[in-house]
Amino acid sequence: MILKITGSGPLSGRVTVSGAKNAALKIMAASLLAGGPCRLTGIPQIADVNTMAGVLRGLGAVADFQQDGCVIIDPRGVNRLEPSEELVIRMRASIQVMGPLLARFGYVKTRQPGGCNIGPRPIDLHLKGFAALGAEIKEECGYVSAKASALKGAEILLDVPSVGATENIMTAACLAEGTTVIRNAAREPEIIDEQNFLNRLGANIKGAGTDTIKIEGVKELGATDYTVIPDRIEAGTFMTAIAVAGGEARIENTIPEHQQALISKLRETGVEIIEGDTYVIVRRCPKTRLRASNIRTMPYPGFPTDVQPQFVAAMSLSEGTSEIIEGVFPLRFKYTEELTKMGAKVTVDGKQAIVTGVPTLHGTTLEAPDLRGGAALILAALAAEGVTEISGIDHIDRGYEDLPGKLSLLGASIERIDVTKKRQAG
Ligand code: EPZ
Repeated sequence: MILKITGSGPLSGRVTVSGAKNAALKIMAASLLAGGPCRLTGIPQIADVNTMAGVLRGLGAVADFQQDGCVIIDPRGVNRLEPSEELVIRMRASIQVMGPLLARFGYVKTRQPGGCNIGPRPIDLHLKGFAALGAEIKEECGYVSAKASALKGAEILLDVPSVGATENIMTAACLAEGTTVIRNAAREPEIIDEQNFLNRLGANIKGAGTDTIKIEGVKELGATDYTVIPDRIEAGTFMTAIAVAGGEARIENTIPEHQQALISKLRETGVEIIEGDTYVIVRRCPKTRLRASNIRTMPYPGFPTDVQPQFVAAMSLSEGTSEIIEGVFPLRFKYTEELTKMGAKVTVDGKQAIVTGVPTLHGTTLEAPDLRGGAALILAALAAEGVTEISGIDHIDRGYEDLPGKLSLLGASIERIDVTKKRQAG
């Protein structure tokens, strides 16, 4: 499959954001702690969710997609403590089953996880957290295991506020004896969502959303229904799409509070944004060019690394020069090589990119190198002159629920083409 995008000028209309990938995946994994079936709503229909469902089924849990879009997860049948190697290397979020399995069964062994190619992604902080709770950690030949007869609450200071480590330690500590305190915890909204879910199961966690999270261990957890928060990165992608292509869109199912860093930067570039209670309206006059603006990505509430590529696509068409510092994943600039094929002027030096805006980009043949980099190429193609063909769209389908279809709702000319059929016909 490839995407064929014809630069078609301003976008307009209404689009609804799906549930947050990075909350859904963690909550699905955390369901392993439940004492019965959990009915999860707002789970996006994306490849990564299918992968997580596969991981859970491989462990012996039920993970059933319902006709109404809900997912039922019932962990009562779990009888294997080693997640499928084939699935773990496909998706980094698979590592999130470690905390729940360790907490509940006292053992887990997994392959080191894979995921988007955006630079080194160690798991040392996850493992240090498990060790602090009393687990014995073994790492050999690309595998890691954690074992404990009983976990005990501990004080854990994270060297960096890692999202995944915060979540994994939170789940591991739920059933530990006594109190766990995670300091320098990540503050992302997805962590608050996971805390809320776990507390609905009967856990006793306070402080998510701040840098100190306190978990009082409980004996066992029950079951619950839960709806995950909207995807702030998907919403940010649509907001940036309007910045790139111009026009006006009402983006529904969005929490504006989660978008403050992006909203402030987009306003700086000349984009108009109205914040509603559960939506934003984004407007950009297609006749004027965006102003250049610098960003430095940081953990929440700083500018999100997951919207850095899309913002660079916008800046590549701005008037002036922008300095982009990638402060979370220093090698997350692979997609800029593709962007320059469209005529963008971007030079990368380590964790810094300098973007000199140009008046127009031109369509060409590109390959999406990763999820958000792929989204950035789509946005650039919406505003480019001519036709762009993008391969590697499985990266994009991993994390966006039908991004091409939703952009079509805003008037974009974008279609999926089955290249195998095209070749056979030719
Ligand atoms: C989560 O990744 C997200 N993934 C990423 O989204 C997101 O970019 C990232 O958080 C930052 O917001 C999921 O939620 C599935 P981290 P995660 O641990 O948890 C270093 C997307 O496009 N670190 O917060 O893996 C690490 O190298 C994806 O949707 C350690 O040094 O990110 C990085 O520099 C991509 N040791 C920094 O911390 C560790 O043990 C932040 O990583 C763990 C992390």
